[in-house]
Amino acid sequence: MTKRIGILTSGGDCPGLNAVIRSVVKSATRRGWQVYGIPYGTQGLINLEQGRCTIEDFQLRDHGFDIPGLLRGVDILQFLSGSILGALNKGNPSDPDNAREILEGYRLLGLDALIALGGDGSLDIISDLAQRGHWNWIAIPKTIDNDIPFTEQALGFDTAVDTITRALYDLTFTAASHSRIIVAQVMGRDAGHLALRSGIAGGADVILIPELTPQITENVLDGICQQLVQLRQVDRQFALVVVAEGVHNHLGAKEKYIGDTLAQQIQAHAQRLCQAKSPTALINVCHLQDVETRATTLGHIQRSSVPSSLDRLIAAAFGCKAVDLIADEQYQQMVIWSHGQADSKPLDQVIPFIKQQHQAAVCPSPVTLGDPWVKTAQDLGIYIGEPVRLAETMMVTEQRNR
Ligand code: F6P
Repeated sequence: MTKRIGILTSGGDCPGLNAVIRSVVKSATRRGWQVYGIPYGTQGLINLEQGRCTIEDFQLRDHGFDIPGLLRGVDILQFLSGSILGALNKGNPSDPDNAREILEGYRLLGLDALIALGGDGSLDIISDLAQRGHWNWIAIPKTIDNDIPFTEQALGFDTAVDTITRALYDLTFTAASHSRIIVAQVMGRDAGHLALRSGIAGGADVILIPELTPQITENVLDGICQQLVQLRQVDRQFALVVVAEGVHNHLGAKEKYIGDTLAQQIQAHAQRLCQAKSPTALINVCHLQDVETRATTLGHIQRSSVPSSLDRLIAAAFGCKAVDLIADEQYQQMVIWSHGQADSKPLDQVIPFIKQQHQAAVCPSPVTLGDPWVKTAQDLGIYIGEPVRLAETMMVTEQRNR
């Protein structure tokens, strides 16, 4: 039976969104369905309700995005970052007027089902609208932060890990040439997945993530300096420190440029230890002379590299799986990545959990003590926080997330 489906990208962009759009358009078109791309998330529905665009403006065809020459049709989309539908992480669908317009815009489109790509925040919001409007919908998890529960991987994460890993490679040589300690601040919101994986892949000597190092204490600075001493004892003068943006400062407050603060603190702490001449037993201060630090905030470059092959594969599989679910009229599902393939999980299990985590103000899917990459980092001798407090912190985090 022919269907009329919609697709929207909500929240921040990430690599692979366009590849999902391509996958949905291709597999739905092969079934003879019509696909409507809603621009700027729910704002597109408001625009439709207000008569600022027409339903025809939304239609996506397999040859809707021609680039003159050989690259015709939607196939170009799998190589492009961003979202051809635009991404918006503003707006307030909880405002009754906005909500009414969104629901009316959706009704005007006359869709059989909607595919919504979003992070935990957007999926939470869309689920409320979907419930009110009785929408048949399928969620696709996307975020470079990889903090969406019930999926082994969110779309966009793999590319961001690659981007950061490449940046760490580039930073290595300038760090080495100047015998500097380079602190790289990476995204991830309240989760440390990006920092942990890219830190390991990029050869970091120190990785600080909010789950293991909620804030930068004196003990943490001691631990970092101890790591620098150990490196210098084997004649390694430079070091790479990766800090996730979710790590808080010594007062327990979030800082936009925590990497800058950390870089300054490492340098000052090393100097203090040298001057004190009564270091803790663990620190051989003579190795800490001339510690010079620099900070780099990688910023939005992490969001827009060319999608990696894995993200393109995930995008292809997610798009086809979403269309399959709609064909089977199995609605209210989130497509997930599980054991190397696309699967699905009922949204009535996913959304209540996300809401509960949001209410408790905790990350819906943080790095856990059982994460194999934590052990790998430890086994490699990467400093990942205060060793004695590690298990304690992880226990608290796991209890909070239960
Ligand atoms: O959630 C994805 C993310 O890139 C986070 O890692 C980061 O904290 C945030 O979005 C940045 O948001 P914005 O693009 O609104 O500055």
